[in-house]
Amino acid sequence: MSVFSIVLFVLFAAQVYWVFAVRRLLRRRIRSGSSRVIVGSVLGAVYLGLMAYNFGLLGRRYTPVRLTPGAALLSAPFLWWAASSLVAFLIIMLLTTVKWTAIGALKIFRKGPAIESPGRRVFLARTAGLVTGAPFVAGAYGLFYGRLNLETTHPRIVLPRLPRSLDGFRIAQLSDIHIGPFMPEDEIRKYVEIANAQRADLVVLTGDFVTTDPTTQDAVVAALSGLKAPFGVFGSLGNHDGWARVENSITRLFAEVGIRILRDQRVSIGPPGATLNLMGVDFQSLKAFGPSRPVIRLLDNIESLMRPDQVNILLSHNPDTFDRAAEVGIDLSLAGHTHGGQAALEFISPEIAPSRLVTPYVSGLFRKPGGQLYVNRGIGTIGVPIRIGAPPEISIFELTSG
Ligand SMILES: [Fe+2]
Repeated sequence: MSVFSIVLFVLFAAQVYWVFAVRRLLRRRIRSGSSRVIVGSVLGAVYLGLMAYNFGLLGRRYTPVRLTPGAALLSAPFLWWAASSLVAFLIIMLLTTVKWTAIGALKIFRKGPAIESPGRRVFLARTAGLVTGAPFVAGAYGLFYGRLNLETTHPRIVLPRLPRSLDGFRIAQLSDIHIGPFMPEDEIRKYVEIANAQRADLVVLTGDFVTTDPTTQDAVVAALSGLKAPFGVFGSLGNHDGWARVENSITRLFAEVGIRILRDQRVSIGPPGATLNLMGVDFQSLKAFGPSRPVIRLLDNIESLMRPDQVNILLSHNPDTFDRAAEVGIDLSLAGHTHGGQAALEFISPEIAPSRLVTPYVSGLFRKPGGQLYVNRGIGTIGVPIRIGAPPEISIFELTSG
């Protein structure tokens, strides 16, 4: 059984559970049988309608690049419900397992009659209600606030081999744009303005410009075309750009607006005699990841792009290339891909982030002998337009020789 089919099964089981839970609730709250039928039918029709719309059963839908009424009123509530109800279901399953284990243990080990405690039972029921309600509140927070609460970070990167004249050189990084109804073209233009206001020397983009729909590529390029920096704007491609099959076309569109996508390519950045070697590679992974084919060796042939006499900086969407990048001595890798966990619970513990199951490099700065890596959380979202504990990010690096 693949991971995908397990996830689908759990999603389905969660929905079945909630259908019966709502039925139970209606039975308890509405005495009149006919009223119950009317309310149940209305709820059922809304539920099935939202399902049909969001699974594309009402006709093929193209991804809009602005927030349409359909996205706001039909997709957002459905996605909020799908994510929140799934988490709540998992919590309920966990609590039920704990409860039955405790009851079983008490039956085995307790001697004498059971002592009833109605107060404790009410307290436990209320606590369980609060705990299962929390995912719905957290989901709403992530949809309306967490997703839009941009953080501009200012990491200082020490590169001992940096030429003195480049001390203080600043690079702005934007990643994982994922244009769509919840990251509309206008919203991206706002992020472009914010990045431009930082007056960085160089701007880099680390992929996932689109999500799955190739028709959105013109709009994302148009929105990002406003990026300005004295040493130019460069980028690399992400897995979603590959999945949408826009690698060649989006590279061409970017070139038309003066943004160069580096595809196993390099460029010298800076004044003559004091340059940085900027390299870029397409998304690559050792494991099969969606429709992407795995590679046998990460950063194969990267040595041919490196310049041993310069500081080498790599744009690679997947942070997993870092181990090999450090091995060959790439001074700084800039990546995205993880969205910082997107629905990470890092405010509880940095270990609780779904992305950690995929990569140890979820967000922020990592150091190893031979190199450093910065993983940007990106500005867009995938799957559900929700961010919890992983705010969108524009990073402005200041390079220093120490
Ligand atoms: Fe992404």
